[in-house]
Amino acid sequence: KENIYILGIESSCDDTSAAILCNDQILSNVVADQKIHSEYGGVVPELASRAHQQNIVPVVHQAIEKAGIKKEQLCAVAFTKGPGLMGSLLVGTSFAKSLAYGLDIPLIDVNHMQAHILAHFIDEEDHKKPPFPFLAMTISGGHTQIVKVNSHFDMEVIGETIDDAVGEAYDKSGKVLGLGYPAGPEIDRRAQLGNPKAYQFTKPKVDGLNFSFSGLKTNILYFVQREVKANPNFIEENLNDICASIQYTIIGILMAKLKLAVKQTGITHIAIGGGVSANSGIRKALKDAEQKFGWTSYIPKFEYTTDNAAMIAIVGYLKYLEKDFSDFDVMATARLKI
Ligand code: KG4
Ligand code: ZN
Repeated sequence: KENIYILGIESSCDDTSAAILCNDQILSNVVADQKIHSEYGGVVPELASRAHQQNIVPVVHQAIEKAGIKKEQLCAVAFTKGPGLMGSLLVGTSFAKSLAYGLDIPLIDVNHMQAHILAHFIDEEDHKKPPFPFLAMTISGGHTQIVKVNSHFDMEVIGETIDDAVGEAYDKSGKVLGLGYPAGPEIDRRAQLGNPKAYQFTKPKVDGLNFSFSGLKTNILYFVQREVKANPNFIEENLNDICASIQYTIIGILMAKLKLAVKQTGITHIAIGGGVSANSGIRKALKDAEQKFGWTSYIPKFEYTTDNAAMIAIVGYLKYLEKDFSDFDVMATARLKI
């Protein structure tokens, strides 16, 4: 069987990434993250697109070098068409077009949200691929979605956030507590040392499978302001308990929606992806659900959960097999639906 080499390029937000795949196996996956945004407590779009411009050539070069292949061996270039920040997407899109055109190979556009899900089909030791149909929950700083996955390219969004993403809930709560950006990992670390029932936060009331996190953020802000007024050292003295209580609330929300999705669809194979799937609370809750409810959970290797080009390349491979190529006039699309 002939080997198929795909170059994947991801530039939808603040990570510039390039990966090379041989069939469904990763040869290289290079990610240049942009430290610059931490000073601002969030991603600054204009700075992100400039950093992508600086990073893209060296990152692609490194990916090819690490893979140990020559660019002439590439069979196709896959890139993120959307959703994401327009200025960031444009850098990856233009670069992918030029390279595919120059090498005279097919160009393949990829939906970033599909890619988070199809990352589960990268061939990895110790990772089983979910059987169809399965439920995928994508949770990160930019997304919160539950998707019913019927086949590789037949997906239905059955629930999503109506305001903030779950990672934003972590990061914005962290900001209130004076933690650095992104605060998710720090809150998670401290949560494991604190009492999850120390404080109660209100759970949002959103119908069906949709999520809302903006109310929780305000709830935490007012709670902290009130307590600090009474005791200026409130945060320092209770930080682990506050983090544990925030985490308990957030994981409770995610698991309640997952339970409802399982009830509505009858599907018990649950795959997660996105930066927040690194969270110890969600991992433990899913493990418990395997015992308690007979679910099977699928968690990709960490480097394939956060934004990365390996997930773009695997979608490129699956589309290549179906000869699903794009025209060279394809456009980056900031609000692209699954
Ligand atoms: O997927 P990602 O790297 O980028 C996008 O947003 O697309 O996700 C980053 C998000 C941030 O909000 C970060 O705080 C959160 O993932 N995060 C975590 C953990 N690790 C990363 N949130 C909770 N617990 C964690 N262990
Ligand atoms: Zn993402």
